[in-house]
Amino acid sequence: MQWRNSAVRYGLVSVSLHWLVAIAVFGLFALGFWMVGLSYYSGWYQTAPNIHKSIGILLFMVMAARLLWRWISPPPPALSEHGRLTRIASKLGHSFLYLGLFVLMTSGYLISTADGRGISVFGLFEVPASVTSIPNQGDVAGLIHEYLAWAIVIFAVLHGLAALKHHFIDRDRTLLRIFGR
Ligand code: HEM
Repeated sequence: MQWRNSAVRYGLVSVSLHWLVAIAVFGLFALGFWMVGLSYYSGWYQTAPNIHKSIGILLFMVMAARLLWRWISPPPPALSEHGRLTRIASKLGHSFLYLGLFVLMTSGYLISTADGRGISVFGLFEVPASVTSIPNQGDVAGLIHEYLAWAIVIFAVLHGLAALKHHFIDRDRTLLRIFGR
């Protein structure tokens, strides 16, 4: 498989980034959902949020690299059999996933750093706090983070179902392309 995207399929870099991000997003959602129900006396009470935050910061970097790569190597154009509505829906849907993920990660950062403390990423490096002056920052960012996480995960499932519909009902190459085929 070639590294770069071509006119007919996604290349190795875009395919790897797509599936890495997909696994990370579903994994972070499951971890976040589980950790908010932990009791103070659980051994995971502090460890789980630290893992969640560390992966969130790494995901931000991966998403920034993904956007940069998208600019260097643009995705293949829409399939010729896709009508105007499908093309618009896919563009809007992908834009929502990109933008939504950045807002989601930024809100997570603003919750964690609201008290002025930075985020240690697996003890390897620290991302310092910056904005700490938004009124009720932790609560406001927390609400955005929670609702947006649900919206993105539900939307990602619909996006996956749309890809399966293209594959099994329309029998076009949409799904195969994101596997580099
Ligand atoms: C959290 C999970 C996911 C996220 C955040 C996500 C995000 C995205 C984004 C942003 C794109 C556009 C890529 C670009 O052109 O720059 C894309 C493309 C695509 N995704 Fe996903 N995705 C997820 C899960 C899935 C799943 C589970 C499937 C399939 C079952 C899937 C199938 C596809 C396909 C087929 C394309 C290419 C569409 C085309 O060629 O126009 N995605 N995804």
